[in-house]
Amino acid sequence: MRDLLGIEGMALDDIRSVLATAEEMHEIQQRPIKKLPALRGRTVVNLFFEDSTRTRSSFELAAKWLSADAINVAAKGSSASKGESMRDTLMTLDSMGVDAIVMRHGGSGSVAQAAGWVKAAMINAGDGTHEHPTQALLDAHAMLRHFRAHNLGDLQGKEVVIVGDLLHSRVVRSNCLLLPQLGAHVTLVAPPTLMPPGVGTWNVEVNHDLDSALPSADVVMMLRVQRERMLGGFFPSEREYTIRYGLTAQRLTKLSPHAVIAHPGPLNRGLEISSAAADSARSIVLDQVSAGVAVRMSVLYHLLAA
Ligand code: CP
Repeated sequence: MRDLLGIEGMALDDIRSVLATAEEMHEIQQRPIKKLPALRGRTVVNLFFEDSTRTRSSFELAAKWLSADAINVAAKGSSASKGESMRDTLMTLDSMGVDAIVMRHGGSGSVAQAAGWVKAAMINAGDGTHEHPTQALLDAHAMLRHFRAHNLGDLQGKEVVIVGDLLHSRVVRSNCLLLPQLGAHVTLVAPPTLMPPGVGTWNVEVNHDLDSALPSADVVMMLRVQRERMLGGFFPSEREYTIRYGLTAQRLTKLSPHAVIAHPGPLNRGLEISSAAADSARSIVLDQVSAGVAVRMSVLYHLLAA
């Protein structure tokens, strides 16, 4: 792999290899002393044009635990806020001789475009509504770890129900490209107004009734209602949304005993997910966060260690 631009275009062998290395990185993450010398002398820039807590900080930790130098450049506080173009910002950082640029940007396709401009390896940390590939990889890693720990096998034949604001979600796109390749069956649940265009061509099932989808789920992945991308208004209303599509305490009773709850974060507690669900024993939300460091260590290792 030269860049990680999306799950689309990633070979299945590379996906399996990244997930296998993430297992090893997970073991290192549990150690009291986490540093490995694998990327000593390498430099990683986190270039974020949109806000982030998990992705930015886990890429920074991942780079540091592999002994790479990591710096963070946020649009707010950089010359981008003075009007510098994305291309000029990238060319400036690339000219400093960095090895990888982890980029988040509001424009779908922006990271692939950037990869054509720079010598550094480009890693997509979320581009518009297009893809968030390391989120899908960490979701798969967290699910696999859970299934193995409970002697439930791997993702083959598992039912993953993804619920929420799918229209604005890059996470759903990456997961729908990844999970079926690993053997899972994916069902998407959302009101018709929040289904992505063209979903009929995806390798997934579509359902508008959450209550009918829950009993067969092995994993229920709740996605955030992205209020910031709904400038034209939100239909249905938030109250109606929670009643019909929220993972409320009452709905937890519809889940099978072994089903788990995932959410990539950040959470809108009380809107798409109740605290009863997010904080329950079924929740793997914090396992996903932990998996994020291991997967990002693996991605940096695969791109930069050679
Ligand atoms: N899941 C995710 O991408 O979270 P952040 O926006 O905090 O990075």
